[in-house]
Amino acid sequence: MDRVALGKTGLQVSPAGLGCGGHSRLGMRNGDASVAEGVIQRALDLGINFFDTARAYGTEEVLGKIVRQCRDEVVISTKTVFQDRDGHYMPAERLVASLEKSLKRMHLDYVDIFSFHGVTPEHLDHCLHAYVPVFQKEVRKGKIRHLGITESFRQDPTHEMLKAAVPTGVFDVVMVGFNFLNPGARDEVFPLCEKHGVATQIMHAVRRALSNQEVLLETVRQLVESGEVSTLDVNVDDPLDFLNAHASVESVTEAAYRFCRHEPGVSVVLNGTGSVAHLEQNVAAINSDRLPESLLSRLDQAFGSVRSVSGD
Ligand SMILES: NC(=O)c1ccc[n+]([C@@H]2O[C@H](COP(=O)([O-])OP(=O)(O)OC[C@H]3O[C@@H](n4cnc5c(N)ncnc54)[C@H](OP(=O)(O)O)[C@@H]3O)[C@@H](O)[C@H]2O)c1
Repeated sequence: MDRVALGKTGLQVSPAGLGCGGHSRLGMRNGDASVAEGVIQRALDLGINFFDTARAYGTEEVLGKIVRQCRDEVVISTKTVFQDRDGHYMPAERLVASLEKSLKRMHLDYVDIFSFHGVTPEHLDHCLHAYVPVFQKEVRKGKIRHLGITESFRQDPTHEMLKAAVPTGVFDVVMVGFNFLNPGARDEVFPLCEKHGVATQIMHAVRRALSNQEVLLETVRQLVESGEVSTLDVNVDDPLDFLNAHASVESVTEAAYRFCRHEPGVSVVLNGTGSVAHLEQNVAAINSDRLPESLLSRLDQAFGSVRSVSGD
């Protein structure tokens, strides 16, 4: 697989990344790590060197078990939440303890990217003032190579948090929601990231709406009801019929990953799966060509101005 520059970090990464969270959590929802081990090993065999996990996903241990054998060849991104169960901010020391636990669980001396997880606009100031200075010390100690931040695409589908966070220059890598049902990051986030040399990890390329026809139908029904999508542009009974009918497209999911891969400003497209077969399809999609112009314009005509959904 190709390698692309991860912003200004100096790291070279595969354009496909393995997401170890999302709804699939590498197939570990029932706690069985054997499927996850197979998915991670296959990802390495296919040339993936970028892995995103989080303490909250419960996949750090299995990821560490496989990748520590090739530590110098992989880029590991993990994260910490910053609120307790009651919604109170946790003290910075607890977040540092979370980093230590992540390192211990993965048996690693450092992580390449450490992010604040699912930050919404109202929490950004607290992250910047209460946590960032503390974590910059962890960077200096060598426990973290680069600081990152991830948005909550469902709660913040117009990327208000990232629009404020990227210009601070504090974060080298951000995680942003992007898919053809809500391509708003194209105008709102990617140009800012390019200006500031910030790398992007894409989440929600597929999520539920582009892997489950019922969720798609419900999402499009809501968009038609809110007036964001016109029935002149989509068939509400089969909204992506034109994609499925196109000779160059294998499936909606395939088109969704290809769509993200070729977008200027995208560094790594995460795919989250608990299936080796799906992983293989997704890597083939991300390695494949840009979608034909005719399909890109059709998608743009139908969904180009949508800003309210995440695809979840
Ligand atoms: N705020 C945050 O920090 C945050 C939030 C969300 C996600 N993330 C990160 O982003 C990663 C990606 O998450 P995502 O949920 O956005 O992932 P995604 O890759 O957009 O979608 C994953 C969903 O699509 C399905 N799928 C994947 N490949 C498929 C295929 N070839 N055919 C049919 N269905 C397929 C998966 O089910 P199967 O298991 O059946 O394949 C899963 O339900 C996560 O793993 C996590 O690392 C971070």
